[in-house]
Amino acid sequence: MATVRELLDSGTARLRASGSESARLDTELLLGWAIGAGRTAVVAHPDAPVGADAWSTFEAAVARREKGEPVAYLRGIKEFYGLAFATDRRALIPRPETEILVEAAEREVAWRLTEEPRPAGTPNVRVVDVGTGSGAIAIALATLLRRRRMLPEVTLLAVDSSTDALSLARENAVAHAVADAVAFVEADLTPRGEAPFDLILANLPYIPSAEVDRLPVAASFEPRAALDGGPDGLVVIRRLLTALPSTLAATGTALLEIGFDQGPAVESAVAGLPGGWSCRIRPDLSGRPRMAHVERSTNPAPATGAR
Ligand SMILES: C[S@@+](CC[C@H](N)C(=O)[O-])C[C@H]1O[C@@H](n2cnc3c(N)ncnc32)[C@H](O)[C@@H]1O
Repeated sequence: MATVRELLDSGTARLRASGSESARLDTELLLGWAIGAGRTAVVAHPDAPVGADAWSTFEAAVARREKGEPVAYLRGIKEFYGLAFATDRRALIPRPETEILVEAAEREVAWRLTEEPRPAGTPNVRVVDVGTGSGAIAIALATLLRRRRMLPEVTLLAVDSSTDALSLARENAVAHAVADAVAFVEADLTPRGEAPFDLILANLPYIPSAEVDRLPVAASFEPRAALDGGPDGLVVIRRLLTALPSTLAATGTALLEIGFDQGPAVESAVAGLPGGWSCRIRPDLSGRPRMAHVERSTNPAPATGAR
């Protein structure tokens, strides 16, 4: 019977040889998953024996990882905003850089519910997550708002053009007990008849087509429609921006994840919208400009630093 240490060493060597830049971490995650005890247990108990079933599950996973399959698809799970999301080839694996969109969205909703007077009968704050994929943004936001008891005053839609992605997103909503709070809709961008929205959130595909083919092999396991943003990466995002005058409420805000070098192009697309719009490009946690904050220039400035 092999020990944890032996399997970690052999798995790490194989993955390193196959070109993985995170060979040790990948191996720890895969062995922890195969054993059913998690990565921490594996690191903490290197001399523990590994049973035959877990061993063969681990070997099969390492073989698939050697061919480039992402660890998140092999384990079927990815942590996002402190929550465990089911992941498989139906949708993009949620990325940590998208978490700033959730944080900003929570601030926007909270500002609308607490800074503005809300007499009884005021309509709900209407939020849409466009291109929801696994549901990561909408579901993380719903769990945050539920914790803050704000969910009853929010109407939350999650949209995708992919039937497969939506089926995964629905499963994740059930797993996180927010299936009653998020409506999932199959549509191209914002669904007809649902606008205007107070908050439009979007992590749409933004990688230029030619670059998609040069991404690490792991990305080839993800749906191309989740990554490929057309010749300059901004084809889908530009369509969303063009529709803003009719889809965003008068005091609404759109928050869009973009590529770190796309800020100027997004600012110029917003400048071309009719009626006067502002676009601020905000940095992510590592200081890279990754989020566009778009609203009408007539929007009232916030009274406090809440936004
Ligand atoms: C980059 S992935 C983001 C997934 C998820 N929001 C996340 O952050 O992990 C983009 C998603 O947008 C969807 N998508 C692409 N074009 C779309 C369109 N025209 N209308 C709606 N969804 C679209 C894709 O199917 C994919 O699920």
